Amino acid sequence: TRRRILVTGGAGFIGSHTCKQLSAAGYLPVVYDNLSRGNEKSVAWGPLVVGDIRDRRTLQRAIAAHRPQAIIHFAALAYVGESVAEPADYYSVNVGGTIAVLDAARANGIDNIIFSSSCATYGMPRALPVRETSAQKPVSPYGRSKLMGEEIIKDYASAYGMKYAILRYFNACGADPEGELGEWHTPETHLIPRVLMAASGMIEAIEIFGTDYETADGTCVRDYIHVSDLARAHLKALLHLDAGGESLAVNLGTGRGISIKEILGAVERITSRAVPVVYKARRPGDPAGLFADPGLARRRLGFVAELSDIDTIVRTAAPFFGLAPVLRASGAPAAMPRAKRAS
Ligand code: UFG
Repeated sequence: TRRRILVTGGAGFIGSHTCKQLSAAGYLPVVYDNLSRGNEKSVAWGPLVVGDIRDRRTLQRAIAAHRPQAIIHFAALAYVGESVAEPADYYSVNVGGTIAVLDAARANGIDNIIFSSSCATYGMPRALPVRETSAQKPVSPYGRSKLMGEEIIKDYASAYGMKYAILRYFNACGADPEGELGEWHTPETHLIPRVLMAASGMIEAIEIFGTDYETADGTCVRDYIHVSDLARAHLKALLHLDAGGESLAVNLGTGRGISIKEILGAVERITSRAVPVVYKARRPGDPAGLFADPGLARRRLGFVAELSDIDTIVRTAAPFFGLAPVLRASGAPAAMPRAKRAS
């Protein structure tokens, strides 16, 4: 029988892409998700248990029924702006929920935990690229809730003999290259999907928040990493812990920063649509530049991003917004990935 992995938040964007790769690697992903932000249609590689991570009885029943060997804990709220308006929800789900997941792991002798953390735990870093040793000084309740999650996991690990892989994602984006899963949040606030929505006419224009940053073209620079690369990093983390590897906390990024204007340019070139733009004031709490030093993940996990060039990101994401990439780099027409379902 296949090794079972409990995937909290497995109906979400990064969780569902990870389930697909877990399944391809011979694991059975058991998704535990309350579907508040995730999509039932994205659960296709194993059973779905609908439940909230804070509901300890339902969580315990799911673990007793499926007996997973490890937990990948994605389930969380992840909008920076919303976290400022509703901190209670963020601490309840991201901190309280994480404690419930860890207690359930402990009660059932599940020792290996993979935790979704964020570059938001670094706040406004003073030096780039961001290393794991950089100070973690988050500037939003969201970032603080993720940092608290990290600290709680570390304390549980040292007291109760658990092992963890804390994965600090930079900007997740793109979509399954085989077209089975896409990026589609409600509400959608992330840059790349919104640029694609503007390109396809679903929204009137993309608002660019700030053009006077101290960057080459004045717009914010971020480290965009393809969701299928992130998914593969989870698999590597699982294998690492399974093989007796030490606990770790690593950045998952590419090491390259790219600006908002460069993304706009790539979308226009690849879709051959003009993207209407409205220039706006800076969004509070946005660092000018943020990109990872990806060296530790490479050394500890052998992980290197492979699909995270902007062309691959845009080409894989575009079909979910009704946009067919028009040209390959070679100039030959691109095939449209089969879009079984948007998620
Ligand atoms: N942006 C725009 N217009 C938009 C949306 C975004 O100009 O319509 C800009 C933002 O100001 C930012 C960049 O595009 O400069 C990227 O914004 P996103 O909202 O896509 O991503 P963030 O970098 O703000 O957020 C990401 C993750 C969060 C995480 C955060 C840490 O989505 O979960 O990185 O900085 F907390």
